[in-house]
Amino acid sequence: MPEDWVRIFDTTLRDGEQSAGVNLNTAEKIQIAHQLAKLRVDVIEAGFPAASPGDMEAVSTIAREVRGPIIAGLARTRSGDIEAAASAVSLAAKPRIHTFIATSPIHMEHKLKMTPEQVLEEVRRGVAQARSLVPDVEFSAEDASRSDVDFLVKVFSLAIECGATTLNIPDTVGYAAPEEFGRFVKAILDGVKAPREVIWSVHCHNDLGLAVANSLEAVRAGVRQVECTVNGLGERAGNASMEEVAMALRTRPDRYGVSSRLETPRLYATSKLVSRLTGVLVPPNKAIVGENAFAHEAGIHQHGMLCNRATYEIMKPEDVGSPGTALVLGKHSGRHAFLKRLDSLGFELDDAQKEKAFLLFKELCDRKKTVSDGDIEALVVDEVLVVVPERRFELKEYSVQVAGRGRASASITLRDGTKEVTDAAAGNGPVDASYSTIRRLVGICPELSSYRIQATSERSDAMGEAVITLRLNGLKAQGRGASTDVIESSIKAYVNAVNRLYALAAAKGETLNGENAG
Ligand code: KIV
Ligand code: ZN
Repeated sequence: MPEDWVRIFDTTLRDGEQSAGVNLNTAEKIQIAHQLAKLRVDVIEAGFPAASPGDMEAVSTIAREVRGPIIAGLARTRSGDIEAAASAVSLAAKPRIHTFIATSPIHMEHKLKMTPEQVLEEVRRGVAQARSLVPDVEFSAEDASRSDVDFLVKVFSLAIECGATTLNIPDTVGYAAPEEFGRFVKAILDGVKAPREVIWSVHCHNDLGLAVANSLEAVRAGVRQVECTVNGLGERAGNASMEEVAMALRTRPDRYGVSSRLETPRLYATSKLVSRLTGVLVPPNKAIVGENAFAHEAGIHQHGMLCNRATYEIMKPEDVGSPGTALVLGKHSGRHAFLKRLDSLGFELDDAQKEKAFLLFKELCDRKKTVSDGDIEALVVDEVLVVVPERRFELKEYSVQVAGRGRASASITLRDGTKEVTDAAAGNGPVDASYSTIRRLVGICPELSSYRIQATSERSDAMGEAVITLRLNGLKAQGRGASTDVIESSIKAYVNAVNRLYALAAAKGETLNGENAG
């Protein structure tokens, strides 16, 4: 393995989780972290521990359970943030504190309300505090791409003096252009007299669609860590997409001369897992992991491919783990085949979860002849990875009647803690009637801000998976449900989202409007 390589710093669980509408529970974050470890990312930024008790719990659990990569916790330079990050990563085999403060004139004046001298003082104090707690400290100059180069040279030099071991240059607002960013990064690297062991890093946002291009230019300028996310998730237009950065480095050694250490054949499964858990779909034409990334439709292309794949293919599907044809299991498939499939889909389950998944799989085999990867993913994500506080309400029974012209009525029984509650309501179609009924049963009236239903495979007996978003009191929760009956999927998704709203409110010590006492 060459000594010179580009470290992949994955921030799917921190910057990616900040994406609009993404809200992962701890069990889901752990699945993603295990898969990132199998993919061999160098660093997992597991969250921002001071931001919420949920983030603290997720970062601590990942630090305790996931081995291989460095586990980083994000912190402002404030003392309390750094203490929280240190405590969250304390059980990691390789802990890192990632601390940051903004350095651009606009951020210093309008957001921080600090002078450059005060910012330098914060860097001194924050980095030194972090370094007194862990040996691996990353410092980021937020909004670096709009900061003055000479000031950045001072800031980074001071961070090194105080013990930072990785220095990160973010393009926080996605403003930079590739060639310009390459020159900017080089000017900083030339200006700071950094010891050889210090690693330079970039963190590029995608507001102008240039995050990957900017990251790659920075590699050419000398950085050896790229911060990125699976599927390019992240604030606003997202971060640099990990799969694109890794495959560009691998496919163009002539241009970059240095690669990552990722096990790239795991990229596709990782992308699928993250997409299903976050509910954020991957566009079919997305580079590397989109469904069409390796599909050749035009006859002239197909002809060329048959003569020699290299005519139109610069990477092989197997290099990224793209499956080509979907595999299916059925009622004759045994436990061993099923567990192997779970593993290749990127799930890391404990024994009880495996048992539950296998029972659900067998039940599904009684209802449909073949079970696709999509069916298995939906079962695990929707039924097995649900955490305890998110199980307050559970669907017991339902029936819907559809009259003419779309009018429908629904009757639903939910388990609420130890008791069962039943109600009925009418609505404009079976889904609307069901949702009106659930609102009566759960005592809250959230706004349904998105509703999507999709098949778990391309086969006509696929399950339908509903993914919905509910909003209430400034809280937003996504819910999912899968079944061979799309009305049941829709009901399960709504109940799941209601449970998540209650769990989010409880985590913040709040109650929901109109919440039933007791
Ligand atoms: O975009 C950004 O600047 C960040 C920092 C915290 C690294 O996310
Ligand atoms: Zn960011």
